[in-house]
Amino acid sequence: MALSNSEFVVERSWKINRSTPLRWVWSHARRNLWWIIGLFIGAFGNALFAAQVPVVTGQAFEAVKAGDKNGLWWAALLIVGGQFLRAFVQLLRNFSSEVIGQRLERDVRDELYTSLLGKSMAFHDSQPTGDVMARATNDVREMNLMLNPGVNLVVGSAMFLIMPLIASPHPQLLVVPILYLVFYGLLVWHYLRQLKPVTTAVRQSFGELNATLAEAIDGVETVKATAQEERERNRFRAAVSKWRNAFVAQGNVEAVFLPVLLLGLGQGLGFIHSLILFRNGLINVGDVVSFNGLLLLFGFPTFTAQFAYSQLSSGLAGGRRILELITTETELDENAQGYAEPMRGEIVFENVAFGYHSEVDAVQKVSFRIEPGQTVALVGQTGAGKTTLTKLLNRTYDTREGRILIDGVDVRDWNLAALRRQISIIEQDIFLFSRSIADNIGFGVPNATREQIIEAAKAAQAHDFIGRLADGYDTIIGERGVTLSGGQRQRLALARAFLTDPTILVLDDSTSAIDSATEDRIQQAIEQASQDRTTILITHRLSQIRWADLIIVIRKGTISAVGTHEDLMQQSEAYRAIFAKL
Ligand SMILES: Nc1ncnc2c1ncn2[C@@H]1O[C@H](COP(=O)(O)OP(=O)(O)OP(=O)(O)O)[C@@H](O)[C@H]1O
Ligand SMILES: [Mg+2]
Repeated sequence: MALSNSEFVVERSWKINRSTPLRWVWSHARRNLWWIIGLFIGAFGNALFAAQVPVVTGQAFEAVKAGDKNGLWWAALLIVGGQFLRAFVQLLRNFSSEVIGQRLERDVRDELYTSLLGKSMAFHDSQPTGDVMARATNDVREMNLMLNPGVNLVVGSAMFLIMPLIASPHPQLLVVPILYLVFYGLLVWHYLRQLKPVTTAVRQSFGELNATLAEAIDGVETVKATAQEERERNRFRAAVSKWRNAFVAQGNVEAVFLPVLLLGLGQGLGFIHSLILFRNGLINVGDVVSFNGLLLLFGFPTFTAQFAYSQLSSGLAGGRRILELITTETELDENAQGYAEPMRGEIVFENVAFGYHSEVDAVQKVSFRIEPGQTVALVGQTGAGKTTLTKLLNRTYDTREGRILIDGVDVRDWNLAALRRQISIIEQDIFLFSRSIADNIGFGVPNATREQIIEAAKAAQAHDFIGRLADGYDTIIGERGVTLSGGQRQRLALARAFLTDPTILVLDDSTSAIDSATEDRIQQAIEQASQDRTTILITHRLSQIRWADLIIVIRKGTISAVGTHEDLMQQSEAYRAIFAKL
């Protein structure tokens, strides 16, 4: 089942049912049908050979009574042989469940990652990174553990539960095992119901703990600069306590696991029952011995159930959290069948309105038109909505009202990948990956040659400073580009944009952090780059604004003036006001 909306999808060869956590896990697990069969055969065989011991021991008692030495030998041989084979079926059981568990982890991880890549920015804005990380790592791991040892022990012990029924020496002796089974089932059901909220709380508080940690580390520079270490430490402690309390609550539920009480009771009653049948001459001594030996098999399911069902519950709680992420609706879709022609670069905004979450819209009823190949300057005070306009252009966000046409086609009708491939936006807050300089420049064009990368870097005036770095183009830069200066980062981003050769190029304040000597050279580069493409410059620099074909003045989310520099100087009060300050 494909998600209804996604910006990026990968076809899977198997169907995934995401209606409930259990069905979802099953739709992944059932691909491993042979391993599931292996698990069941292994578990059944293991229980069978475990039951063989009391049964053969009972027969040995009868042999002793009859003075049958051969029979004793046979009994001993059977037990030794049986236990030998038991080792193999046990291996089969453990191996099968381990394989299913590992594969489940792999497939779920893959599905989650793909789905995260396909989510809209509106989704990612609202999701704490640390919590997403916790789900993608620990919760996925919990699902693996749910299979092995969880399901492994559940299936293994279920087989032990039915052995006294299968191997019972007399029909009347089914009474106690059946009663035991019924009560055991009821108690486990009750146990699972109690576990569900506490294991969910454990998983959730762990996610919160991670989110707190991730945010503090991400913002460690600010924390230090404002000397708020103590407060952050207390926040972290509070999150840890919450997690610990959730764990203690789970421990409390586990501590009162009632089937343990039931075990002694069942074995006692079974013993009495078998003695009564013996006195009435319905069974012999050997039967009494085997039956009571069979009842001992209940010990395994009873003692492991506490742990196994707890693991099952934790795994399902993790699964629920992962599924929640995967199935969260996302507003954008990939639109694979959409318009995907080469772009000319005409941009038309028609009554566009958009707001993030607050009451005041960041963009209100904006209309303008940009011809192919024009260079346009967007100017306006901080917070006016300039960056937001560019994010609507490549559908980082979708408009709420009105529409944006590129080449006369609504951006929502474009094939999303084709749309974004042909629009290059150099963000205000440039993001670089902690990979080599060359990889960062070539990020949008994975098969770019080294020559093309160097050429782009030269065009962006970045070649010189790259040459001075220790490993040149192979220098690995720190996460988010922290090992570079602001101006260097901007030039790398420019090179990245030049390399993708977009039809529409947006530069968001891209030269603000560059000294005037470099700026002049970049200015030339931009002029050259803007020759045969539509270019939008968001800038406060007079030189760039003057040189634009069209200037759009934005004020509080609306357009307050449009025109050339000369027009606006004459007509617009707001524009003159901006210039007075520059
Ligand atoms: N991700 C976001 N979530 C919520 N509100 C946002 C988000 N990004 C921007 N805003 C709000 O939208 C409004 C317009 O912001 P925008 O970034 O478009 O301004 P800008 O004109 O680019 O300003 P600057 O010149 O400072 O870059 C602001 O009021 C801002 O608070
Ligand atoms: Mg901005």
